[in-house]
Amino acid sequence: MNISVILAHPYQESFNYAIYQTVLKTLDGNGHRVFAHNLYEEEFNPLLMGTELLNGETSDPLVLQHREEIKNADGLIIIHPNWWGQPPAILKGWTDRVLRSGVAYDFAEDDDGSGVPEGLLKAKAAIVFNTSNTPAEREMDVFGDPLERIWRDCIFDFCGIENFHRRMFRVVVSSTLEERQKWLEEVQKTVDNYFPK
Ligand SMILES: Cc1cc2nc3c(=O)[nH]c(=O)nc-3n(C[C@H](O)[C@H](O)[C@H](O)COP(=O)(O)O)c2cc1C
Repeated sequence: MNISVILAHPYQESFNYAIYQTVLKTLDGNGHRVFAHNLYEEEFNPLLMGTELLNGETSDPLVLQHREEIKNADGLIIIHPNWWGQPPAILKGWTDRVLRSGVAYDFAEDDDGSGVPEGLLKAKAAIVFNTSNTPAEREMDVFGDPLERIWRDCIFDFCGIENFHRRMFRVVVSSTLEERQKWLEEVQKTVDNYFPK
């Protein structure tokens, strides 16, 4: 299978980076064709500018490459920390520029864009791995877990991917080495489960 993996974290010593490495190793071991992108490392430009807003046209080769890969992906894995209840800006810009009309969704010809679109992504499953420093109870009671709404409803359901799995690892700042090792084992098992040999 063609699997796209997107990491949005600026620091290689981070737990997010460890998740990314585990994901890549597991997919590779299972024989998949992996399209891996560390957005900060490749200096992905997240700014949707000018007429690209109107028609999606761009000469940015990296954006064009991402669009092509995502269209052909059989599976998708996204890894990022919770920053203000949102993905880091670089990943927000990736969604703005890559998941465009004609790539990830389309409206019927007589629809002005206010209707319900047809999802175009053919990926069988999408996984989102997140990290945060807020205990689960406070996240639900006070913030309402906005990342779940963003990824499940606003993005993947909209683009036609219903088989969605999201896992938030928390609380990273006070976690022990043993906990983090167990979390990485869970990452491996989840990837094995969704994208087996
Ligand atoms: C700009 C910024 C905003 C953050 N906002 C949140 C937040 O809204 N909720 C939360 O639980 N943690 C928040 N954090 C903490 C990060 O989620 C946490 O540092 C990260 O998940 C730890 O994983 P890492 O070691 O891989 O960076 C924020 C951190 C930064 C730098």
